[in-house]
Amino acid sequence: MLDIKFIKTENPKPIPGPENPLVFGTIFTDHMFVMDYTEGQGWHDARIEPYAPISLEPSAMVFHYGQEMFEGLKAYKTEDGRILMFRPDKNIERANNSNRRLMIPEIPEEDFLTALKELVRIEQAWIPTKEGTSLYIRPFVIATDPFLGVRPSYTYKFMIILSPVGAYYPEGLNPVKIWIEDEYVRAVRGGIGEAKTGGNYVASLAAQMKAHEEGYSQVLWLDGVERKYIEEVGAMNIFFKINGTVVTPQLNGSILPGVTRRTCVELCKSWGLPVEERKVSVDELEEAARTGALEEVWGSGTAAVISPVGHLRYENEVFQIGDGGIGELSQKLYDTVTGIQLGKVEDTFGWTVEVK
Ligand code: COI
Repeated sequence: MLDIKFIKTENPKPIPGPENPLVFGTIFTDHMFVMDYTEGQGWHDARIEPYAPISLEPSAMVFHYGQEMFEGLKAYKTEDGRILMFRPDKNIERANNSNRRLMIPEIPEEDFLTALKELVRIEQAWIPTKEGTSLYIRPFVIATDPFLGVRPSYTYKFMIILSPVGAYYPEGLNPVKIWIEDEYVRAVRGGIGEAKTGGNYVASLAAQMKAHEEGYSQVLWLDGVERKYIEEVGAMNIFFKINGTVVTPQLNGSILPGVTRRTCVELCKSWGLPVEERKVSVDELEEAARTGALEEVWGSGTAAVISPVGHLRYENEVFQIGDGGIGELSQKLYDTVTGIQLGKVEDTFGWTVEVK
């Protein structure tokens, strides 16, 4: 069992009350988890200490070559006061998949889970309970060697910070407008698209700003080679309901393997719906939108949960999905996923992990 030293803050911050609108990712709790890695010694000095700025050399490798991995998951408080995390095993597994791709040393799964549980347990008073809120958990690893040559670092910091959050999009559950990007690309197969790392997100910024200027919330990426096949939205994976079938792009190395994506696939299958994980071309989507076969579109993500899409824009055409409102299946998925997360719907899949 990981031995974690606890240094309690002497200056606790006020915990936001239910009147606080909780914008995504702006408030951080009193403590953070930190563990160091040194080549030859492995991961060491696990501690939970006051949330505070950290000190790094300006030459630290993460600043120059972006060797870093991050994750995102959430904790919830149930009506009867239990604390639940949703599928942390999947985030831990993905974190180590990303670590391998990024030449970052893996974190022992059990230690990772102990660190998550212990920090959430200490900070449980920060878990908001108002509808649509949760405690967002952000684990990350950074390369810390002071060195300007290009190679994997020999030292790292693994940290976990916590943030009480509301909806990721200001729209909440109201449908978002999505811009299908045909100029910039996010990732290519063989690159780092399926790893959760900052580089994939900085690659998205120019297109995101272009989309924002046009009144769109997010960018839907096409494949980096032919710019023909749908990939993902960047902050979420994407699903389509076409003629009664649930369709989502198959994982291909450049798409992030989302935990909520997997959850949607598993839930839809359990409801007896036909589900296809396959290539989806933008032409197929255009055609389905034009003929009315495109019944629903939604995004899935930890931060975004289930986010209905009301409009898609491709080149100069704008397609309204259904009546532009929340689709029936999107609503059912949202209610079921959040119901399981909050302990209101029976967790027959064993997805939730209680923090005691
Ligand atoms: C998440 O959904 O947890 C993510 O990491 C996406 C991020 C852009 C907020």
